[in-house]
Amino acid sequence: MDIASRPAEPAENTQVADAAPPPTAPPVIRREDYQPPAWLVPETGLEFTLGIDATLVASKLRVVRNPDGSGDAVLRLNGDQIVPLAVRVDGAAVNDWRLDGPDLLIDLPGAEHLVEVETQVNPAANSQLMGLYASNGMLCTQCEAEGFRRITFFPDRPDVLSTYSVRMTGDKGTFPILLSNGNCTAQGENADGTHWAEWHDPWPKPSYLFALVAGELVANHDTFTTTSGRKVDCNIWVRPGDEDRTQHAMDSLIASMKWDEEAFGREYDLDLFNIVAVSDFNMGAMENKGLNVFNTRYVLADPETATDADYDAVEGVIGHEYFHNWSGNRITCRDWFQLSLKEGFTVLRDQLFSADMGSEAVKRIEDVRVLRSAQFPEDSGPLAHPIRPDSYQEISNFYTATVYNKGAEVIRMMRTMAGPQQFRKGTDLYFDRHDGEAATCEDFVRSMEQGSGLDLAQFRLWYSQAGTPQVAVTLKHEGTTATLHLSQTVPPTPGQPEKQPVPIPLRIGLFDRESKEHTGEQLIVLTKASDTFVFEDFAKLPVLSINRGFSAPVSIEFDRPNEDLVFLAAHDDDPFARYEAMQSLVVQHLVAAVSGGLNDAARTAGRAAIGQAFAAIVTDPALDDLMRGELMILPAESYLAEQMLIADPGAIHAEREALKAWLGCEYAEALGALHDRAVGVPYSRDAAARGARKIKSQALGYIAAGNKAEGARRAIAQYRSADNMTDRQGALLILSSLDVPEREEALADFHARYEANALVIDKWFSLQAGSFHPDVLTHIRELAGHPDFTMTNPNRVRALYMAAAVNPKAFHDESGEGYRLIGDLIRRLDPINPQTAARFVPSLGRWRRIEPVRAAMMREELQKTAAEPDLSRDVREQVTKSLG
Ligand code: ARG
Ligand code: ZN
Repeated sequence: MDIASRPAEPAENTQVADAAPPPTAPPVIRREDYQPPAWLVPETGLEFTLGIDATLVASKLRVVRNPDGSGDAVLRLNGDQIVPLAVRVDGAAVNDWRLDGPDLLIDLPGAEHLVEVETQVNPAANSQLMGLYASNGMLCTQCEAEGFRRITFFPDRPDVLSTYSVRMTGDKGTFPILLSNGNCTAQGENADGTHWAEWHDPWPKPSYLFALVAGELVANHDTFTTTSGRKVDCNIWVRPGDEDRTQHAMDSLIASMKWDEEAFGREYDLDLFNIVAVSDFNMGAMENKGLNVFNTRYVLADPETATDADYDAVEGVIGHEYFHNWSGNRITCRDWFQLSLKEGFTVLRDQLFSADMGSEAVKRIEDVRVLRSAQFPEDSGPLAHPIRPDSYQEISNFYTATVYNKGAEVIRMMRTMAGPQQFRKGTDLYFDRHDGEAATCEDFVRSMEQGSGLDLAQFRLWYSQAGTPQVAVTLKHEGTTATLHLSQTVPPTPGQPEKQPVPIPLRIGLFDRESKEHTGEQLIVLTKASDTFVFEDFAKLPVLSINRGFSAPVSIEFDRPNEDLVFLAAHDDDPFARYEAMQSLVVQHLVAAVSGGLNDAARTAGRAAIGQAFAAIVTDPALDDLMRGELMILPAESYLAEQMLIADPGAIHAEREALKAWLGCEYAEALGALHDRAVGVPYSRDAAARGARKIKSQALGYIAAGNKAEGARRAIAQYRSADNMTDRQGALLILSSLDVPEREEALADFHARYEANALVIDKWFSLQAGSFHPDVLTHIRELAGHPDFTMTNPNRVRALYMAAAVNPKAFHDESGEGYRLIGDLIRRLDPINPQTAARFVPSLGRWRRIEPVRAAMMREELQKTAAEPDLSRDVREQVTKSLG
């Protein structure tokens, strides 16, 4: 009998019928309730009989009582939408198991047993993309955080580490390539047209790092020899036809392996490193031991189909997942509250890697932009949580900008205070001391303290308190003394009404107005609620450059004259501070404009100051173009909204667009010259050519804002002559917002040209959904009905709907249609893919900070969603908290 087609009948046990339906109010999991596991699983054997609609899974677990556990005789094996088809203990079938909700409980009399369980899953029906699922004709897995329990019954918690031996059998035609973690130890063929492979991973790992991939795949293969001489086979597996777009990923992988040896002393520990690209994936990528699984968008790149930003993202994510081999896999997390232990640290590591591969200054600015546009709003809204949360209902909701990006900032502050050498001593000690363990954030902090010599007693508050600290700054001058006064407040967040002051490391410089030089950068650490710092020998009031390099993830409130900001935008030798001065200049002006606080004279003066700084940026010969392009970007509307207690998105959009048009008009000539110069630079991947492409599209944006006809003329010319995706997408981005005939021509050409390439068609959707075209909402509605649109592919869903949700013009349209669009999406997507559906809730959750008419409409969508009877735990948690 074909075992894979056997129906999923549960094993003899009357308990199955009693499995309770999921309760409507999901239980709250608390950090303080942590208990070590009662049973450990030193060895796991898994046998898969593969089929797209039916895969049989037979597990063999050697379980031993945990000497540090509760001594409980009951073994709890987590499950999720699976039933046990057979249960055996020490080789004999048993019937006295029971189900507790989704979990399987087995009483075990002794201290060590062999437990065997059989289950069957349907990968084709798995639209959640958690556990074992089918994508594009192949089988793959995603187990973090709690997907393994959708494959087989297991203590699915990160502190149960096991060595895995996997055997899989499948049809040779459908599944020519069979992959799992570790090394392939044996393979062979059967007489019936199936073949099999055995894999063994010698490194004990938690279940969330398990992976299996089976399907028709081809590899880009290369080798890397580690510092101690281990020769590693590196493969990047893709669907046939995609292999020509894998070289950048391979280069990035090999660069990552080398960099981690040099920067952190970390060497790879297996003879094989596999990466597989899959097209249906909820997140970016996954660090499974020896078998990383990636969203195709972070693997595939060539000049024709990927932008420079896509190239950077591939490099960053390849690095991120590779670095997890030490910060995540060799040392994992004790429980999911410690998620930032691996994610915050690994984000910092990938940021430092990308900085070393390219421009440190530009990378820092980009990282701060992400933090401010994604994490700051989270930290000031209903879903605010510390980087080490205290409770959750659904852990998938905590893969957030706070855990990842603020988590990275917190570790970066330690590095800033210790200095790179001492910091490295701290990480060395951490890796040494906790290798092979499931550790906690506290373990990391303690290692850092002892290794680096820092005193982190008060600093631990960064792990337990949510909210972005606000630092108020004043600088006074008398005689020859400059006095800096700083005071901090950490705003209240849900569940944390009162906060304590945190240590805030601030890199500062004091500039002399005449010489335009500072007296040497200093690091000051504000530890109290308020403090005063005195600086001698200043004949005049100096210009203060503060939070240079964004040394602390705080918001600085410092009221100062435009001329000081113009000064810093032109002369600061810290590139981030220079960018920051330009941003502050614009933020101050737009916030005043939006709140109606600008009379004509003040508006003229504000624009003149911004224009002066802008012109200096456009023409400064000392700036490289990558940096110039960065400095030209106006602050995002979401960041502007963050500066106001209650924001009017319509007014923000109008004022920001008006400023852009004014700059485009006023500096038309310089911008035209900049665009012309950039157009003349031929394509290459070097920094100068990438810089040229960056300013090309920046200049185009301003030109189009100032003069629609001139913008359209230049954009369609750039589109038609483009020999790479950066230029082509840059031109199309401008055209998609313009109400001109060239728009249709370019969009139709783009679709026809790249019809066969899903990642490029994603761009086609997101450019239109993200546009500022007057009919953008009509376009989005039409795109949702386009034959290329599907709700089952997360990349496509995000391409259309995430682009719409972050497009202030579409989302905050005064009709409320943008809110209804996202509300409807959440409700329709939830039954298909709850994890991805839940990611759309925070956009509506910002209602408290939006003017009352729009706020009421946003809230209504949340209420309508909350009223749905069968909401997932994911969406339920986010919606409830957003209304609360
Ligand atoms: N650990 C992965 C990464 O940071 C993210 C996986 C999260 N997946 C999920 N389904 N929540 O690269
Ligand atoms: Zn990660």
